[in-house]
Amino acid sequence: MCGIIGYSGPLDARKILLDGLAGLEYRGYDSAGIALVMEDSSICLAKKTGKVQALREYCDEIIKGASHCGIGHTRWATHGGVTEQNAHPHRAGRVTLIHNGIIENYHELTKEFHLEDRLISQTDSEVAAWVLDSLYDGDPLKAISKLQEKLRGSYGFCIMFDDQPGSIYAVRSVSPLVASYTHSGALVASDLTALIPYTNQYFVVPEGKIVKLTPYKVQVYNLDEAFTKFTPEILTVNWNMDAAMKNGYPHFMMKEIHEQPDAMKNTILPRMSHGLPDFTADKIPDDLFTNCNQIHIVACGTAMYAGMVARAMMEPLLRIPVAVSIASEFRYEDPLIDEKTLVIIISQSGETIDTLAAMRLAHQYGSKTLAVVNVKGSSIARESDYVLYTHAGPEIAVASTKAYSVQLAALYLVGCRMALVRGKFTEKQAEDFLSDLLDAIPAMETMLAQKETFHELAVHLINHPDAFFIGRGLDYAFSLEGALKLKEVSYIHAEAYAAGELKHGTIALISDNVPVIAIATQEHVFAKTISNIREVKARGAFIILLTKESAVVDENLADIHIRIPNMDDRFTVFPIIVALQFIAYYTSIGKGLDVDQPRNLAKSVTVE
Ligand code: F6R
Repeated sequence: MCGIIGYSGPLDARKILLDGLAGLEYRGYDSAGIALVMEDSSICLAKKTGKVQALREYCDEIIKGASHCGIGHTRWATHGGVTEQNAHPHRAGRVTLIHNGIIENYHELTKEFHLEDRLISQTDSEVAAWVLDSLYDGDPLKAISKLQEKLRGSYGFCIMFDDQPGSIYAVRSVSPLVASYTHSGALVASDLTALIPYTNQYFVVPEGKIVKLTPYKVQVYNLDEAFTKFTPEILTVNWNMDAAMKNGYPHFMMKEIHEQPDAMKNTILPRMSHGLPDFTADKIPDDLFTNCNQIHIVACGTAMYAGMVARAMMEPLLRIPVAVSIASEFRYEDPLIDEKTLVIIISQSGETIDTLAAMRLAHQYGSKTLAVVNVKGSSIARESDYVLYTHAGPEIAVASTKAYSVQLAALYLVGCRMALVRGKFTEKQAEDFLSDLLDAIPAMETMLAQKETFHELAVHLINHPDAFFIGRGLDYAFSLEGALKLKEVSYIHAEAYAAGELKHGTIALISDNVPVIAIATQEHVFAKTISNIREVKARGAFIILLTKESAVVDENLADIHIRIPNMDDRFTVFPIIVALQFIAYYTSIGKGLDVDQPRNLAKSVTVE
């Protein structure tokens, strides 16, 4: 979850590291630090709690002189509080190191290497640094390979040794690391965003190998006795720096909400052939869809809520069981899956550790896995049987927006193709479905054009500690994501409820002016949802109602009524989600909060 960058080359390392960390800050932002190799080969260490800007100012004060090699880190605290001592890099004897991940056996290692009196931080990472120093006899490859034998857990490390100035060593297990040699020098980072200012060519640091960066080379070594060289597969990034900048928007979240129509087109259009969904280019065979008798969707957070929508759309269409599991639960519940189960894994980052572990478990049960992933070459994409990339481009705001809508677009394509090849759709029905999916894109644009409406309505939320989202069927599935968005960026306690379930307890929380965001776009339960809205209205709730344009509702029912374009019920999620994202966004900025980097969160959750 932490951001990592390392650089060795002819340019100003301090600037490259600090700029890189600013771009990586969305991964974690409790504290930040850099270690630079100075011209006299000494190591200069600077660490600060808070944002990268605080570190930058501190570096301006204390660092004099040039450096061409160094490592930098933004932290999302796991072991040990947010203090400068716990910030990375950690120094241990001749070793300077940064770490992303969790070393599970740090306690045993502390004892085995008698480190109790040496540690100055409360981190597992410092333990790893001292273990490495103890194992180091002048041969970095040997020492790092022995260290890896000792460690249990997940890690991405960048390591410098005092007596190897100009060299950075990188290794990983589970936690992501990418590296590249460019005209500007050698770079390693936890995320592509840190590399793309310099190159569009990179490789994923292979697990079980050691990468060495020097000013003019990046070399990968096998962990055999002779440390033979290994040639990694070079990948090309399909987006550029503009995609990772705000481009005139005040926040990344706002920019990414606006990018949804394009992201949808990029995800859907390459998979259309003669008006039908087609996965030939993705190398996904139809027998994946015909050889299963149930679907199990596994993901976390927003991705899991996309799965909830997909379930509500797919099950009535395909007439086979479709279950959704939270990845961190699925891993430990002996799931009812087998070789006839299609397990669909959803992940924006492709690195969420619980989701990755759940996918590995599905393989052990003999299930086939199809991963819906945004980040090319990520661990989940690499390990799944089949991958369907969403083409959202980089999502920088910590709260997911465009990734959700393209996950849905991909899952709707899967649902349509499955219905076709399983005989539940005629070609004509599949064409109509796809055409309705494409029509959802202008409907999203209609909502984008109404953003001021959401700006104005946010005043009704900002002073309330609680808010409720209600809906039935698919509307309930979207409500879950609406509530999560509001919670994470505005810190308002928000709950999503199936509208008919409220009266079984939760309605006790409704009193004067409590905001209730009611979604009523599903025709077959429309009248029932309206009755549920009346029940909360009667108890004083402030109703923000979202319906289709054509919905007929009593004028006095809603305090604010937002209308989306008329469309088939199955596709209303697309315009509705834009509305819910705007509600969360404007409430957050109305409260003066950091909407792109909400407290306690990190973009890619690589701890369990
Ligand atoms: C919420 C959010 C998270 C992620 C979750 C899974 O806005 O972004 O809930 O959806 O951490 O992340 P990925 O999709 O990267 O596996």
